[in-house]
Amino acid sequence: MNNVSANGQDLRSVLITGATGGIGAELAKRYARPGRVLILWGRNKERLDDVAKLCCARGAEVSPRQIDLSKGEAALAALREDQARHGLDLLILGAGLSDIKPLDQPTEDPESVLRLALVNYATPATLATAAAQGMMRQGHGKIVLIGSVAGFYELPFAAAYSSSKAGLACFAQAANLAWRPANVQLTLIIPGFVDTPMSQRLEGARPFLVSAESAARQIMKAIRNGQAEYIFPWQFRVLRVVERLLPLFLRKRILMNLGVGQKEHAGG
Ligand SMILES: NC(=O)c1ccc[n+]([C@@H]2O[C@H](COP(=O)([O-])OP(=O)(O)OC[C@H]3O[C@@H](n4cnc5c(N)ncnc54)[C@H](OP(=O)(O)O)[C@@H]3O)[C@@H](O)[C@H]2O)c1
Repeated sequence: MNNVSANGQDLRSVLITGATGGIGAELAKRYARPGRVLILWGRNKERLDDVAKLCCARGAEVSPRQIDLSKGEAALAALREDQARHGLDLLILGAGLSDIKPLDQPTEDPESVLRLALVNYATPATLATAAAQGMMRQGHGKIVLIGSVAGFYELPFAAAYSSSKAGLACFAQAANLAWRPANVQLTLIIPGFVDTPMSQRLEGARPFLVSAESAARQIMKAIRNGQAEYIFPWQFRVLRVVERLLPLFLRKRILMNLGVGQKEHAGG
């Protein structure tokens, strides 16, 4: 038995988008092992090189790609190229963007709304579909979409982010019904707050915060178990049940009173 199939997971080729980010880099490192091809996508060249080096040192064959996912058609062509070259057993669509409307402005920036819709929803849905077609031809495959608990709520300060994740969740549920019978397993990961540059930009509380390491461990377990949906940490699973009991007027009042802002950068 070789190193790749030693744990019962025959994942010879794994593509991760957002491999330069907090969760994606952690996943890349944990999936890196001899006998496996890791196709790593990111925008930031320096971080991409760093993660690629680390994964190579752990014995994986690494194929990095610097790419902007707001260019959906170029991303689709790149996916097809990588899938044709390496095959694809697991695709993790982890790249994502968040944005929060300034408290003193009534709307988000329209260009940012467009970028979020492309990077968080349109491009991942497109790439998942193209990958599923290839996986169906090879007879098997796993696809992972990373949503957010923000997709459960109509966040007035982040309409673009929360709706992009809600749309992604709806896509995942529908696609799962269609694809599972063809042996393509889709897993929707729904994280709460994870301690990465994305959440470090937030001004306000980050309840039930988990580390990127813990997030990656839980995501890999959900993929291994073939779960259709996985919400973490557990407190958000409880909240999901409790909030269904709230009358609508109370839900709206709570959402309207959430005061969340954001810093320019994670550090500052
Ligand atoms: N952190 C949280 O609290 C949290 C909670 C719920 C859901 N999530 C979701 O988890 C996923 C990973 O987020 P994270 O926490 O790891 O955030 P992160 O550290 O900010 O990483 C985001 C990743 O997305 C990539 N990305 C952003 N815009 C891109 C674009 N236009 N083209 C290509 N790649 C792009 C970034 O690439 P570059 O850095 O190279 O630009 C980076 O690799 C996201 O989908 C996010 O929505 C995060």
